Formats: sequence, structure tokens, C-alpha cells
Amino acid sequence: MTRRTDQLKLGAFLANSGHHVAAWRHPLAQADASLDFAHFRAIAETAERGKFDALFIADVVALWGHHHDALSRTARAEHFEPLTLMSALAAVTTHIGLIATATTSYNEPYHIARKFASLDHLSGGRAAWNLVTSVVSDEAWNFGREQHIDHGDRYQRAEEFHDVVKGLWDSWDDDAFVRDKASGQYFDPAKLHTLNHRGEHFAVRGPLNVARPPQGHPVLVQAGASPAGRTLAARVAEVIFASASDLADAQAFYQDIKARAADLGRDPDHIKILPGITPFIAESREQAQALFDEFQALIDPVLGLRLLADTLGEDIDLSGHDLDGPLPETPVGQRGSRRDKVLELAQKENLSIRQLYLRLAGGNPVIGTAADIADHFEAWFEARACDGFNVFFPYFPGGIEVFVDQVIPLLQERGLFRREYQGRTLRENLGLPRPANRFSRP
Ligand SMILES: Cc1cc2nc3c(=O)[nH]c(=O)nc-3n(C[C@H](O)[C@H](O)[C@H](O)COP(=O)(O)O)c2cc1C
Repeated sequence: MTRRTDQLKLGAFLANSGHHVAAWRHPLAQADASLDFAHFRAIAETAERGKFDALFIADVVALWGHHHDALSRTARAEHFEPLTLMSALAAVTTHIGLIATATTSYNEPYHIARKFASLDHLSGGRAAWNLVTSVVSDEAWNFGREQHIDHGDRYQRAEEFHDVVKGLWDSWDDDAFVRDKASGQYFDPAKLHTLNHRGEHFAVRGPLNVARPPQGHPVLVQAGASPAGRTLAARVAEVIFASASDLADAQAFYQDIKARAADLGRDPDHIKILPGITPFIAESREQAQALFDEFQALIDPVLGLRLLADTLGEDIDLSGHDLDGPLPETPVGQRGSRRDKVLELAQKENLSIRQLYLRLAGGNPVIGTAADIADHFEAWFEARACDGFNVFFPYFPGGIEVFVDQVIPLLQERGLFRREYQGRTLRENLGLPRPANRFSRP
């Protein structure tokens, strides 16, 4: 296979004290980081020094779990609302993209179109929307429902939601605001377009009360791996946040998405696929493994069992089972693609309950020296398993500092990563085209 001529795209995943679920307990991590803006600012500045494409924040619009005993052992009960934090970070950074997660299940399209258009203006064209359909059913209870919307219905709503948001972003031609003091004309009414959307889920007249975003449309990011998720991704995503456990899986996902996009008439290069990856870096492999083991040892079994149940089905109580024995018969529950992957993993590797929850909690670690991490990135990239990575730093701030100081220079030396930002907007840095306005006359 010929060597690639493009370069890695890298996202820096923001997570309070760190991505590892027990990070806040580790001496290298800051325990009270969750609502400390100075902490996030320092991470953003380090990521920008490392020329990362974007910062990335996940979101859940509920307390992360109603099992307070487990939750109370994590630093996840408090977190900033993503668009608010990204707006503040926009003011203290200049080039890095700002990817905020917002769900289509418990929002209205007008709100989302307006907020992301605002963030795009605030940041000079660095906004991106990570469109999710909500993975946590507790969200329903905060929005007048007693049950989560069904998986299929969530995706139908997401499709229409997405189309309405994009339509609203096209409310104004790029040059609609003339602001001509002499004539007294602020905008040209001929360049204002009313969407008049009436669909199954939404009736939205428009227009949007924000000018067309600098990027035309903020970059569209998507995370969802089921057939419905992939269908949506192939049609609309420009960046896909993927979860891939091994190289063959990642290659299959990559090929599937790129082929689906091509079938729909899209250029496959205009979808960047970024699996999540957690690097544990030290001077030697032994030290890196020891570092990983330290974090894993801090996971309380109450928390570990809850993580497992959250993935397999909320009603499952594994507390009466031997932690070092096998998982009982396949539990009930409808959790989509993540659950299926975990059950498959347990069976394939014959894992005990404890081993399985440690695997889940440990994420997708790559453990080794800076050169090992760079080798891993290179191998996956060249094998066309990804276009880059969404990097989960196990602890902050040291986890990203060591990555930027040691791994980034290696990737740069190998020609795999930029030394300077090429563009002004996130779209330009990712090599994505600026969409035309559907209503504009040429
Ligand atoms: C890598 C990845 C990250 C996700 N991040 C979020 C998130 O931050 N918030 C959220 O509500 N859902 C998140 N989701 C959930 C998806 O939006 C979707 O609801 C879920 O994966 C079920 O759909 P699926 O069966 O198509 O995967 C994520 C999914 C994946 C695969």
C-alpha cells in the first residue's frame, strides 16, 4: 500500500482531572479541576502549542448516573456545559478548533443552530458540533419524559434535526450584511432566506438571528456506530469520533464509512475518522505499564460494577457475583453498539467480571515510550484504520504536556503531523470544503 501524503488530524479530549475514571485520585492529577477555568485554559494552551486540530468535549444532560454510591467515587458529577466552556476557551486561544457535543434528542434545532453559529463567530471560524443522539437514558427525566426515546426514533429525529440546523445556518447569504451608513441599509432583504420547515418532528419557520457562520456551517462531527448511526455519519459527518478496539475493527469501520460516503456521492476524504486512544507514556515500557497499573488500582469495585452495568443494561446487578468469576448469562437491555462490543470482548477473551470492568474503565490504552506511541499512531494511520485520533489524556495537566513535549515532535519529524497551523478556520486545518449556501443565487 502506498504511503499517505496527508497528515494526522488530532483532537484533544477535555475531561476534568483526566480521562481515566479514577484520575482525580492520582497524585499527578488535580482533584478539583472540574469547574476550574484556569485548569482548562492551561490544557487548551498546551494543546494549541502542540498544534492539535481541536479540543473536544463530550456531554450528558443529566447527572452522569442515578447510582450515587458509584458516582460519588468519580469526579464526574460536576462538569461545565460544553458550549459555555468552549466560548470561554475561544477567547484565550487563536487557532485550535472547538468541538462541543450537543444531543438532538433533548434540544431544539433553532437553539443549536443559534449557539453554534454564535460560537463560530466568537472564535473566528473554529466551531464544530458533535451531534449525538444521547447515550444516557436519565436525560429523559430532565425533559418531561419518563423514558428515553427509542433508538430508531432518536436517529429519525436526529436526521431531521440536522437538516433543519443546516437550513437555518443558510438563513443569510455570506454578504447579506452590507451595513451601509450612507444609504442607511444594514442588510439586504433579498439575501435573507426563510426556511419554512415542516416535518415529522419539527416545524421551524426561521430565519436565524445570527449571520451566516464564518465557516459557512460549523464542522459537523458525529459519534454513533450502529447501522443507523453509520447511515447518518456517511451522509452528514465531516469528522467521526469512533470507538475502535483493534486494528482490524478500525479498518473495517473506516472502509465501511468511506464506501457509504462514496455511494452517496461524497468525497471520502471529506470525512475524517478519529478513534479514541488513551496514551500512558513514560521513559520505559515498564514504567508506562506501572503508571497504568497505578491508575487501574484506584478504581473502586462499586464503580467498576456500575460501569459494567451502565454498558450492559441499567437493571443489571452484578454485586452478588464473584468478581473473579465469569459474567453470568447475557443480561437483558437494549444499549446499542457499545453493549454488543463489550459482550463480544468478554466472550472472546474469556474475561472475569473484574477484568471486564477494568478493561472498560481502562479505555483503549496504548502503553509505552513516546516512540511507541508515535509508532502506534503511524501504523494505524498508514494501515488506513483512521485519519487521526481523538486523544484521551489519562490525567491532566501532565498527560497532555508529556504528549506535546515528547510525542508531537516525533510525529512532526516523521512528516506525519503539522509544525504550524495551515489555516485560520477549523475547516481549513482539517482540509474540509466550505459549504455553499443552498439558497444563494450564483
Ligand atoms: C465514541 C462515541 C462517543 C459518544 N459520545 C457521546 C456523548 O458525549 N454524549 C452522548 O449523549 N452520547 C454520546 N455517544 C452516543 C451516541 O450519540 C449514540 O447515542 C449511541 O452511540 C447509540 O447509538 P449507536 O447505537 O449508533 O452507537 C457517543 C457514542 C460513541 C460511539
